Amino acid sequence: MYLGVNVDHVATLRQARLGIEPDPVMAATLAILGGADGITIHLREDRRHINDRDLDLLKAFVPVELNLEMAAEKEILSIAIKKQPDLVTLVPEKRKELTTEGGLNVKDSRKMIQSAIKRLKDNGIVVSLFINPSEDDIEISKEVGADMVEIHTGSYSNEKGIRQERELLKVQKSVKKAVDIGLLANAGHGLNYHNVSKIAEIDGIRGFYIGHSIISRAVLVGIERAVSEMKDLITSAAGRK
Ligand code: PXP
Repeated sequence: MYLGVNVDHVATLRQARLGIEPDPVMAATLAILGGADGITIHLREDRRHINDRDLDLLKAFVPVELNLEMAAEKEILSIAIKKQPDLVTLVPEKRKELTTEGGLNVKDSRKMIQSAIKRLKDNGIVVSLFINPSEDDIEISKEVGADMVEIHTGSYSNEKGIRQERELLKVQKSVKKAVDIGLLANAGHGLNYHNVSKIAEIDGIRGFYIGHSIISRAVLVGIERAVSEMKDLITSAAGRK
């Protein structure tokens, strides 16, 4: 079971003092030692956490998949094409949001997303779309040429009890739909050590992109341990299904 670790929050801490520590590049090294299958960074237009220097260094040394989350905007698209991450995940981006709120509006932004995917794929980059758990959105993702999808688990993660079960059902149906039409399906957002197992038990799910909960635990127990504990959890949940 694939685990991509998002190190944006390390950069957020660095930017709190506009200094040089903690360094997301060092954090990525330790995450890889802990068992991360990939490293994710979100290069935001406002550069609020990850910056161009981080992308350059991570591209130079990360031996596992480097996933660049980004908006389908002109400047960032050119950077992605120049820097050649292994994977681009297109996400919606609003200046004032604290974190990525909801998946892409693939219905209304279909043309723009399709042309961004084409540019990236023409330049040899694999593309994933961050979408809401909706079977329609999975279908559109396939039609616009995405290689895979990442299903937004924010609503699932924010709920408990029966409401969470309803959200889980949406994620299950979306993964099934993706698998049926030949799209790789991942999940991410808001996942933590308490809620990830039910998603990892879903048949056909490829993996996870997780940031906040792993970096939060790392503050207390260290990054290697925080990553390996998450990896153990998802791997054993996947083995149970
Ligand atoms: N996947 C995507 C596309 C995201 O935008 C984010 C948040 O940066 C994550 C996964 C990770 O979310 P979290 O930090 O809540 O684990």
